[in-house]
Amino acid sequence: MSVEDQEKFTGSDTEGGITSSYAMDDGVVLKVPYAFFGSIYDDDEKCAAWEAMQQDTLTMGPQVAAFQTEFATMCGVKHAFAASNCTTAMHICTQAFGIGPGDEVIVTPNTFIATSLVILKEGGIPVYADIDPKTFNIDPAEIAKKVTAKTKAIYVVHYGGQMCDMDPIMAIAKKHNLLVLEDCAHTPGAEYKGRKAGSIGDVGCFSFHSLKNMTTCGEGGMITTNRDDLVDPIEKLRCMNLDHWKNQTDYWIPSHFDVVDVNGKWGNNYRMNEIQAAVGRAQLRKLNMLSEKRREIGRRISAGLQGIKGVTPVYEDPNCYHVYHLYTVCIEEEELGASRDDFMRVLYKEEGVQGILHYQPTYHFSGLKKMGYAQDICPIAEKFFYRREFNIAMHPRLTDQEIADAIAGIRNTAEKVRK
Ligand SMILES: Cc1ncc(COP(=O)(O)O)c(C=O)c1O
Repeated sequence: MSVEDQEKFTGSDTEGGITSSYAMDDGVVLKVPYAFFGSIYDDDEKCAAWEAMQQDTLTMGPQVAAFQTEFATMCGVKHAFAASNCTTAMHICTQAFGIGPGDEVIVTPNTFIATSLVILKEGGIPVYADIDPKTFNIDPAEIAKKVTAKTKAIYVVHYGGQMCDMDPIMAIAKKHNLLVLEDCAHTPGAEYKGRKAGSIGDVGCFSFHSLKNMTTCGEGGMITTNRDDLVDPIEKLRCMNLDHWKNQTDYWIPSHFDVVDVNGKWGNNYRMNEIQAAVGRAQLRKLNMLSEKRREIGRRISAGLQGIKGVTPVYEDPNCYHVYHLYTVCIEEEELGASRDDFMRVLYKEEGVQGILHYQPTYHFSGLKKMGYAQDICPIAEKFFYRREFNIAMHPRLTDQEIADAIAGIRNTAEKVRK
């Protein structure tokens, strides 16, 4: 697309409200827009993509193999499998876990729909456990209350770049023989007590979507695991249940491949291509730099928000290496005398700082409501988080001016709306 076309493109082609930007076309002059690209690209990515385009194969080739090995090394796990995105990565794992009709999966409500969607796709039942009021991650004590004879797995999300309290979660899983999936969409390179995201549960699933800390040309995903027994099911479910024939006489007889089920499950084509993998390798080499930039920006914003009565900055758990995928601000309505929505309106219209909500509790969505989910299952996620929170732009290309404008905008708004 030419620069001119890019300028004209407002992102107004939507799929259910999901756009390629948060531009509103409403005349508001934004100083700090919420960006739709979470990383930094330079000549490394450009050369990597171009070189991969010269290869004899553009899929299932050397770039994907190398990206998987390098990603596994970064996470400190035995195996990694590139996928088309995090949703498909989690779907593969849900099928590999054998989750089926009637199986209960304990899951956080504070996440993108994908984490519940993959359970629903297999006929499983998402059972929502409430979140911790400081980290906004699933609360282990709440998980323990939700275990029943039908529970098969626990799906956790490391919200905003900070990992869940994994030790008690793994202890519950061990006690009740449950599988654990870590949704690491927000946490490539994050750590809990020195262990990397994606290395503690049975599997970890990563997203390389455009917004994420590292991105493989806008879409992409990865599965990590230390479990040797999951290698074969994951590979088959990612690639249409293809298998090698046993006892082939010639390589073309009876055909190039056999097809088998995986414990009754049928997979899909959920592969990543070579160009995405080549770009992913270049991004992986930058991951430390990208995380450090985000951490520095996050800490500068937190320092700037100190002492504003009614505004709560991000909490950093001392057990964690936070990679600041999001910067979540909370508004204390009682202290400020104004609601979060009043605050966001002034912040946006008068201060030019755009805010976005992540996340509404999953069970609020119409499709889930129709299934009979009560609307007050998780009071912390509901009242303490969803009604107080909003996210401001957080990415490694934020300029000093944008950081200063975001802080000043929040400070000025607090004074304007304070009653
Ligand atoms: C927590 C979480 N899980 C899963 C996903 C899905 O990732 P993808 O878009 O790569 O399928 C996202 C993406 O926004 C996410 O934020």
